Amino acid sequence: MTFTPPEHIPKQPVFDLLALTGSSKGSPSPPSLRDAPYQCPVNRGSLAIALALRHIGLSGRKEVLVPAYHCGAMIEPILAEGGIPIFYRIRADTTVDLEDMARRRTPATRVVLVPHFFGFLQPLQAVRAWCDAHDLILIEDCAHAFFGETEGCPVGTQGDYAIGSTWKFFPLNEGGCLVSFRHPLNTIKTRAPSLSEELKAVVNTLEYASTYGRLGSFNALFKNIFHLKDWLVQRLRSEPPSLAPPHKSGDAPTPEDFVPAPFHSGFDPKRTTLSGSLWARWVTEKSSLSFIVEKRRENYQTLLEASVNLPGCHPLFPHLPEGIVPHVFPLVMDQPLAVFGKLKFAGVPIIRFGEFLWDKMEKGTCPISEDYSRRIFQFPCHQSLQKHELNWMIQVLSAVLTGSGSLPSHPDQHAP
Ligand SMILES: Cc1ncc(COP(=O)(O)O)c(C=O)c1O
Repeated sequence: MTFTPPEHIPKQPVFDLLALTGSSKGSPSPPSLRDAPYQCPVNRGSLAIALALRHIGLSGRKEVLVPAYHCGAMIEPILAEGGIPIFYRIRADTTVDLEDMARRRTPATRVVLVPHFFGFLQPLQAVRAWCDAHDLILIEDCAHAFFGETEGCPVGTQGDYAIGSTWKFFPLNEGGCLVSFRHPLNTIKTRAPSLSEELKAVVNTLEYASTYGRLGSFNALFKNIFHLKDWLVQRLRSEPPSLAPPHKSGDAPTPEDFVPAPFHSGFDPKRTTLSGSLWARWVTEKSSLSFIVEKRRENYQTLLEASVNLPGCHPLFPHLPEGIVPHVFPLVMDQPLAVFGKLKFAGVPIIRFGEFLWDKMEKGTCPISEDYSRRIFQFPCHQSLQKHELNWMIQVLSAVLTGSGSLPSHPDQHAP
């Protein structure tokens, strides 16, 4: 039986009116994937990878160079499109190890996939030139980097294709995009979501918002509606009532009771040609980009300053350069196993990109990736975090890492 404690603060952006009318609406928009002249909205970033591979056509040369530091959502679409993932090394700063990549190229290599890990754009001019020299297609994986620029290159402009994961940056529960600054995408045929898929997109967003009390005076009403909906769904599927946490009779659950839910990448090949919902498109279009950018940078900076003096960890990126819009705050832990359950149990949302590396990747392919897979935890720094939520997360991190004092109470009790 799995027991995943509730997350006391939201892991991803939450819908509220501020998201659409954000205070910096007048400021100039930063570079983003929205600037690409060729756009194909889809349901998820992993589906955008699959669509790009389909557009390229992997007949004959089927090998796709992918980083040894990866998640299932990057590998599954390659396999689904008949590709063969070949893993290359990354450097400690997460940039491509181009010498290693060159060693792994064979006559069957066709595509190179390069992510901008955690939103920190890596310079791609050298990789671009190498791809041109060897007739390779470059997919810029911008799942963590919807915005930004580095060394004068706006996000997405170096790849033949760029893929994005809109739900990581906008208050949505789904949404991705395949875009290109270089090739028209109009030969890609997608199907529009059905009415029930459209409705689901709206309902899921509102349900997540009501969980975190972001619907103002409508919150109580929506909470009741969603309770009723869950009850009905359970009855219709004749599911047993939700599982109580497993613990010794009479005792309160402890961090040792924490059993992570089974991993699921979210990739569903049946949805490859499913176009993005109208709701996702509307929210992406109406959101204030400068609000998202400024808030994420501000929250990252707060987490950076708070983590400097914490024992047992160090930030992967101790400096936030101009032009970078982080997806998350990645922290390298000295003793990941000792703190993971405690943080989760306290209700802190932790994202573990690359926690499960592809099991067919040979051990020792990239020691840095294997180390990061175990030791890097990512904490949210998105625009919807409220000040008291951010402070609460910092207090829990500090209490767990220093081992001192009791854990702070639920963040709602610190709300202004
Ligand atoms: C680097 C990277 N690329 C692609 C994806 C797939 O994006 P999505 O979750 O929208 O399918 C992910 C998912 O987390 C990712 O981390």
